[in-house]
Amino acid sequence: MTANDAPNDAAPGPATGKTARDPWDLPDVSDLTIGVLGGTGDQGRGLAYRFSRAGHRVIIGSRSAERAREVAADELLAGTGVEGDDNAGCARRSDVVIVAVPWGGHAATLTALREELTGKLVVDCVNPLGFDKKGAYPLRPEEGSAAEQAAALLPDSRVTAAFHHLSAVLLCDPGVAEIPIDVMVLGEARADCEIVQALASRIPGMRGVFAGRLRNAHQVEALVANLISVNRRYRAHAGVRLTDV
Ligand SMILES: NC(=O)c1ccc[n+]([C@@H]2O[C@H](COP(=O)([O-])OP(=O)(O)OC[C@H]3O[C@@H](n4cnc5c(N)ncnc54)[C@H](OP(=O)(O)O)[C@@H]3O)[C@@H](O)[C@H]2O)c1
Repeated sequence: MTANDAPNDAAPGPATGKTARDPWDLPDVSDLTIGVLGGTGDQGRGLAYRFSRAGHRVIIGSRSAERAREVAADELLAGTGVEGDDNAGCARRSDVVIVAVPWGGHAATLTALREELTGKLVVDCVNPLGFDKKGAYPLRPEEGSAAEQAAALLPDSRVTAAFHHLSAVLLCDPGVAEIPIDVMVLGEARADCEIVQALASRIPGMRGVFAGRLRNAHQVEALVANLISVNRRYRAHAGVRLTDV
C-alpha cells in the first residue's frame, strides 16, 4: 500500500514521531483541464461555468460534438473559453473528468468510455433518484451507489465522487458570485480526493471536505432527495455545511 492508497479516515495508530499533515494542505490544481461528460445539461454547464471562472481550461462533452459546441457558445458559456466536444474527446483531452449524465445513462456512458478514461481522475456527481407523487426518493444501485458502479465499470480509472449537493440553478446564475457550501468528496486514494477537494475549493464560497470511502457514497447521493424536499418547502437551493471542521 502506498501513501496515496492509505486510508485517510483510519483510526490513528501508535505514535510514530511524525507530525500529522494539515488536512487543509491541498495540492495546486490550477493547471488541470476539466472535462464534463453530459456537460450540455444544467449541472454540467454550471460546473463548467464555475471552473472556467476559476481559471481552468474546461471541455464539455455530449453525445453530439455539435451540441456541445453550441452549448459552449450559449449565453452562459460564451466568452469563457469553455470548449465543446463529444464525450470521448472530452474524456481524452481532460485531466479530471466529471460525470454529469442522468442516472439512466450512467452505466452505458462509462462503459463506452473505458479506454478514454484509463488513468483519468473521474469525479462522479450522479444522484440515482426516483420521483413519484410523494416527491424524490433514492434508488439503490446494485453496486451500492452510482460512484461504486463507476468504480466497477472503470477499474483502470481513479474514481471519486463529489458535487452531489450543488444546485445547478445557483451554478448557472452569473449573478451569484459565491456559493457557500461544503462539497463532500469520497474516494479510495488520498491524493485523488485531495485533488478534488482542491478543485471544489477553487469556486468562491465552496470547501472540499473528505467524507469517506466510496462504500459510503450511497447516503451522500441519497441525501439529495432530502434536499429536494427542503427546496420545495422553502423555495430554496439548499446545500450542506459541515460544522466543526
Ligand atoms: N441538476 C442539478 O441540480 C444536479 C445537482 C447535483 C447533481 N446532479 C446530477 O448531475 C447529473 C446531470 O444532471 P442534469 O440536471 O444536468 O441532467 P440532464 O440535463 O438531464 O442531463 C445532462 C446531459 O446528459 C446527457 N444525457 C441525457 N440522457 C443521456 C443518456 N441516456 N446517456 C448519456 N447522456 C445523456 C444530455 O446531453 P447530450 O444530449 O448533449 O449528450 C444532457 O444534456 C444527474 O445525474 C444529476 O443527478 C444534478
